[in-house]
Amino acid sequence: MKHAISASQSYANLLDVNYKSRQNVNMRLISKSFIFSLSILVMLSSTAYSQPQSPKIIHSTTYLSKKFDVGPGEVADIHMYNIEFPKGHVGIKSFDVDLVDEHGNSVPLHETYIHHWFILKYNIKKNMSVSQNPNDHSKPSGDLIYKRNDGTCNNGILPHQWSSGSETRGTSTKLPYPFAVEIGNRADITEGWEEQWLLGVLVIDTRGAENKKICIQCRCDQFNLPENFYDVTVGFHGKVTPEYKAGVLCCQDKFQCKMRKGFQAPRRNLAIKYNITWVNWDQHQIPVRFYVLDVTDRVTTNGSETIHNCQYKHFPCSKSKHPMKKGGYLIYASGHAHTGVINATLYGQDGRTLCTSTPTYGTGKEAGNEEGYLVGMSVCYPKPGSMKIDDGETVTVESIYKNEFLPAVMGDMHFYLADELSHDA
Ligand SMILES: *[C@@H]1O[C@H](CO)[C@@H](O)[C@H](O)[C@H]1NC(C)=O
Ligand SMILES: *[C@@H]1O[C@H](CO)[C@@H](O)[C@H](O)[C@H]1NC(C)=O
Ligand SMILES: *[C@@H]1O[C@H](CO)[C@@H](O)[C@H](O)[C@H]1NC(C)=O
Ligand SMILES: *[C@@H]1O[C@H](CO)[C@@H](O)[C@H](O)[C@H]1NC(C)=O
Repeated sequence: MKHAISASQSYANLLDVNYKSRQNVNMRLISKSFIFSLSILVMLSSTAYSQPQSPKIIHSTTYLSKKFDVGPGEVADIHMYNIEFPKGHVGIKSFDVDLVDEHGNSVPLHETYIHHWFILKYNIKKNMSVSQNPNDHSKPSGDLIYKRNDGTCNNGILPHQWSSGSETRGTSTKLPYPFAVEIGNRADITEGWEEQWLLGVLVIDTRGAENKKICIQCRCDQFNLPENFYDVTVGFHGKVTPEYKAGVLCCQDKFQCKMRKGFQAPRRNLAIKYNITWVNWDQHQIPVRFYVLDVTDRVTTNGSETIHNCQYKHFPCSKSKHPMKKGGYLIYASGHAHTGVINATLYGQDGRTLCTSTPTYGTGKEAGNEEGYLVGMSVCYPKPGSMKIDDGETVTVESIYKNEFLPAVMGDMHFYLADELSHDA
């Protein structure tokens, strides 16, 4: 009996069971409609393809992270190691994320703002154990190697394989057939090691905040910073100076937005719900490489190597150039931005537009459509083969914000490149 189980201890498991059974139904539906649409495709294009491609079964599971709690006005910056993930050698087709309360309901952005979430791959010695407690911020030490994406920031900046922010509910993550993110290939993993995944989440509970819209921009003057903040805080580029006015350093775990006087509300438990669809890896799948280009990247060279310097300063910058060592066919591209963005564009070296991603702003109250918030970014799916970045080509990323939102501090372009379009070519 569900009711017999104590809610605080086991809501995660309970929800998990519910989701998994619901998901089995969905899985059947997905496979069916996929086969259906594929057979139409094959019929329409029977002259173009001599060999009809065999339909691929798409698996889908919805997982629920460990829960974490957050109080009115508070920031939660959570890292969870070794989260549940599809097992074996598979190709990920989509990765969709939602923020839910203890009943599994989506939490609207005007209550808890999703600043960002990310998924990062690491390899770890098989006998190492990693804390499962989201409030335990100690990182596993030794014998763990983070695996960053294909480009292009320096050090540990923007290394993730998937990420999004407030736009997560309204932004497609799907990759079209036959492209997929290949994971779990034993050939890439040292004997005695395994691949695991880290989930990072930064949310801000804005219930009762004096100024929600400013607080969610992590503006330092909206937070109750510790008195010695500017003496002790060290960022990616050394000690923080009083010129640092906004950014994640002012949005650390348990920091608090300035509150309306007398506001009271209970703390609450939240969790990340994530839905992954995938195929078993086989000779029909084509792997893609994932890139995150950031407008704050200042690219220089020391003569032999390209040096990236991402997020050095949060001065107004809306455009940056990126030499791409290796190019490929553009399969997917989308901007990651914050509220106020008008568009984000990826240009080729000759000025051609590779992708312009545009925002959707909410108009209602419910989760996914919160008035005034950025709730989605459009995705470009160029006809495979129609857009190609050459090896060594310098691309440009530009993000344009409404004037009142300057200086713009967030402008990333996320995209996937493939080396080939089909195995028959
Ligand atoms: C998971 O994502 C797929 C693709 O976006 C979607 O069709 C499916 O309904 C989702 N499943 C669940 C259980 O939400
Ligand atoms: C883990 O493996 C290493 C060598 O690979 C070994 O030295 C160590 O004792 C092992 N630890 C445990 C807890 O088994
Ligand atoms: C450039 O940087 C790379 C990587 O840090 C280093 O290996 C190389 O020696 C540097 N080259 C010069 C000319 O300084
Ligand atoms: C982006 O928006 C700006 C401002 O509205 C507009 O001038 C520009 O043409 C847009 N860029 C693209 C590539 O659509």
